[in-house]
Amino acid sequence: MPATPDTPSPSSANALWGGRFSGGPAAIMQQINASIGFDKALWAQDIAGSKAHAAMLGRQGILSAEDVEAIHRGLDQVAQEIAEGRFQFSVALEDIHMNVESRLRELIGPAAGRLHTARSRNDQVATDFKLWVRDALDRLDGDIRELQAALIDRAEEHAGTIMPGFTHLQTAQPVTFGHHLLAYVEMLGRDRGRLRDARARLNECPLGSAALAGTPYPIDRAMTAAALGFDRPTANSLDAVSDRDFALEYLSAAAICATHLSRLAEEIVLWCTTQFRFVRLTDAFTTGSSIMPQKRNPDAAELVRAKTGRVIGALNGLLVVMKGLPLAYSKDMQEDKEPVFQADETLALCLAATTGMIRDLTADPAAMRRAVEAGFPTATDLADWLVRSLGLPFREAHHVTGSIVKLAEQQGVGLSDLPLAAMRTVHAGITEDVYRVLTLEASVASRTSFGGTSPDIVKAAVKAARERFL
Ligand code: ARG
Repeated sequence: MPATPDTPSPSSANALWGGRFSGGPAAIMQQINASIGFDKALWAQDIAGSKAHAAMLGRQGILSAEDVEAIHRGLDQVAQEIAEGRFQFSVALEDIHMNVESRLRELIGPAAGRLHTARSRNDQVATDFKLWVRDALDRLDGDIRELQAALIDRAEEHAGTIMPGFTHLQTAQPVTFGHHLLAYVEMLGRDRGRLRDARARLNECPLGSAALAGTPYPIDRAMTAAALGFDRPTANSLDAVSDRDFALEYLSAAAICATHLSRLAEEIVLWCTTQFRFVRLTDAFTTGSSIMPQKRNPDAAELVRAKTGRVIGALNGLLVVMKGLPLAYSKDMQEDKEPVFQADETLALCLAATTGMIRDLTADPAAMRRAVEAGFPTATDLADWLVRSLGLPFREAHHVTGSIVKLAEQQGVGLSDLPLAAMRTVHAGITEDVYRVLTLEASVASRTSFGGTSPDIVKAAVKAARERFL
């Protein structure tokens, strides 16, 4: 906290908007108002937007060719100073837009003041932020793709590795580890689809909407839109300066993706326990305990699970900021950037860590088999055999199977080791042929429906996933 929060600062009124102001802001006003601490991340987008705007003003005869030339030269120099870390960002100048423009004035003089013709910081910030989010969407797509590639490689390797498939976290039916990993490839594919959809909707240019109502200058909005890689200009100036759907869509897609990562992370945590032992992570992705020497903790997975909270929180936070705002721009909207920046950084980190863990982990097929055998996983196969071979209605087959599972449990054996005589005490029609379906291999191999877990289907799914996603 500043020492004298309520006294006006000695600095004079803001040079860029202070015409009718005689005093400067209170220190605390400056502190709450300034966004430069975080929106300097938009510097490259701000300069690109200004260059496109100046070029358009020049072509429309609103600015002279000399002014446009000076503005472009000056902006290039500002960009170079920022890129090289030589730029002095000033809190008194509030935000990135005014920091850049003020430096431009120092460099090129009064021509800098003409750059702001036919625009406002309201359309400027909407444009800059859209450009930033668009880049983030593209980066994120590549990061998710990397994770899909890792999962697909491991799925191919484990197309025939049998593990328990769970419902209610109780052993349900045997599946293959490859099939399980490919489930995440599908989730991530939908995440990428959401990013693509968001990008297409985002890609309309707000520049030229000015403060809220448009501008009397004969501007060419299609020209600036095209120069900045947008598909077209936005169709309503009020909407253009007050829309933050693109940030919300980015955050909701990010939150869903983070949720997927969190579910996978939770599974990795479970799989690494001594109770499961399905996988092992190397020293590269685990930590030890300072007191319990036997421990190998999957901290990265736990942190991916936890950091998802930040991404969901960012979405929530921005929804709450936006929900009560009347049209058009309100300063509340300056609070849009930090949640997006933080979510983006967090998600990129979580994706990289997850890709690292997937490539690092070693599966333990023997442990998976022990776990699956303990749970009578072929009970459904037995019931299906009773339906198909003896013509029992499924409900009755289900009941018969339940009694046979009870017998096996009492004798402490798996279904495939229960003697025929014992099974016949439950239903006299059962024959030797039943053992054909009771092995784990037979069970997974039989599930050949499209999207099923049979190793042949999984191998085909691996190939298809490579074509669809990589
Ligand atoms: N720093 C501001 C933001 O991020 C820029 C827009 C300011 N516009 C205004 N009318 N005060 O929202």
